[in-house]
Amino acid sequence: MQIDVFTLLPEVITPYLQASIMQRAIQRKLIAIQVHNIRDWTTDRHHVCDDMPYGGGGGMVMKPEPIFAAVEAVLGAPPACPLILLTPQGRLFTQAVAQELASLPRFALLAGRYEGIDERVHQHLVSDEISIGDYVLTGGELPALVIIDAVARLLPGVLGDPDGAWDDSHASGLLEYPHYTRPPEFRGWRVPEVLLSGDHGRIARWRREQSLLRTWQRRPDLLAKAELSEMDRKFLSRLQAGEIPTAPEDER
Ligand code: ADE
Repeated sequence: MQIDVFTLLPEVITPYLQASIMQRAIQRKLIAIQVHNIRDWTTDRHHVCDDMPYGGGGGMVMKPEPIFAAVEAVLGAPPACPLILLTPQGRLFTQAVAQELASLPRFALLAGRYEGIDERVHQHLVSDEISIGDYVLTGGELPALVIIDAVARLLPGVLGDPDGAWDDSHASGLLEYPHYTRPPEFRGWRVPEVLLSGDHGRIARWRREQSLLRTWQRRPDLLAKAELSEMDRKFLSRLQAGEIPTAPEDER
């Protein structure tokens, strides 16, 4: 997998790629990430990348020339791979979109700054626009890192545990079950007995029910789209009927 990032702030992107799981994935050549400074493709003495908006109004607009020059120099014209603009106006980034991107051999991210980008970049250069949520950041660098991180951890070998990405919240359309490690009792709060039982069938069922319970409590909107078995549906009906205690075991 190769990802190219076009930005005015490469210094924001690169440190994150030099730590922990991302660094290891790059060293092991599971992913290659090239960060390109758009300013390197300006041709004027002051390396200007923004200008005042036609029609007036506040804020500056990113000029089209250095963006087109950078993208065409690196990816060719037309771009040899999908080019995704990070913008609050884009389609919403979800785990399904992360999976879609993880299946590509290569894609590129364009991070905007200032109040906006010249509309000709939207119309004639990018092939997709993605938002990481309904809020506005000062630029697309953090969204680019969010996407890189979510995609990288789906690639084979990036997480140490091959099932690491499988049980995740959202991977199955449900939120994840609670996790515990040693000690079995901490400040009087006990680990649920079933997890100490060694009975893998019971543990799997408990985890599934906890996932369903959490999703029902916190994100009921997700249940409409999740893949549910007959047993899942029965459990949810009993939850709705108030037949199942919903507080954590040690608070009952
Ligand atoms: N740039 C500014 N805000 C953004 C957001 N929410 N998603 C993607 N890019 C952005």
